[in-house]
Amino acid sequence: MGFCFGVRRAIEILEKAAVEHGRLETLGPAVHNQRVIAKLAGMGIRVAESLADLQGDIIAISSHGAHPKVLEEIETRRLRLIDTTCPIVHSAQMAAKGLAEADFSVIVFGDAHHPEVKGILGWAGERGMAVLDEQAIAEFDRLPHKLGLLSQTTQSSDRFARFAKKLIDLVIAQGSELRLINTICDVTRKRQMAALKLAGNVDLMVVVGGRNSANTQRLAEICSTTGVETHLVEEAGEIEPGWLQFHHHIGVTAGASTPDEAINEVILALENLTRDR
Ligand code: F3S
Repeated sequence: MGFCFGVRRAIEILEKAAVEHGRLETLGPAVHNQRVIAKLAGMGIRVAESLADLQGDIIAISSHGAHPKVLEEIETRRLRLIDTTCPIVHSAQMAAKGLAEADFSVIVFGDAHHPEVKGILGWAGERGMAVLDEQAIAEFDRLPHKLGLLSQTTQSSDRFARFAKKLIDLVIAQGSELRLINTICDVTRKRQMAALKLAGNVDLMVVVGGRNSANTQRLAEICSTTGVETHLVEEAGEIEPGWLQFHHHIGVTAGASTPDEAINEVILALENLTRDR
């Protein structure tokens, strides 16, 4: 649990750049965790909401990657680019680009509002679309002749598999061609499996991470599917002593953008609350 290699790498690049350049800006939050953003702000790293909101001339792309039009604008404006796109997200972007160039319409199984998905859709060309709801498949009356399917890197592999199976049935019924590229991040997949296993062996799960972090939300969803009581907390202060009543085995997991300090504080708080029982 805690920082994945992509987030750790992005933060290291940003910290090094802050030392080198003094001040710089990230396009949107570098990671979906307030504590990390506050620490970076202390080093002179400001969050710019958009390119129009930019105050300086050094811009960093987050680990979620960016739409190719954003990269073009950065080049046109001759801004200095610091690219912290996670290599796994970059592979998903290149998969989308390859499919679009081979004349495939691309479906990205993911949240259309998430920055990573917006970026991948940009590489998927004009005919890219994001879908997250399995029911939406039933609404496709006529599929494109050539269809590509990939996933937001942090989606649950089970949900992606269910979605893909439904789509395959429709593709076969309609005589289309489907090319599926599994772009789920293996780090995420392994953590989800570990969280699921842990949730099956405890009577209370605490998931630590940002509420706006897709992979943290996914961990909480996955733990809940086991039927175990699950709470998502951003910090130790959110733990309610009442949750611990009648629970004897507590599991803790954390999202890929959760710093170690936040995890350690939650564990300490849980230990203190359960010590004298
Ligand atoms: Fe990259 Fe996977 Fe982390 S896509 S940012 S290593 S969750």
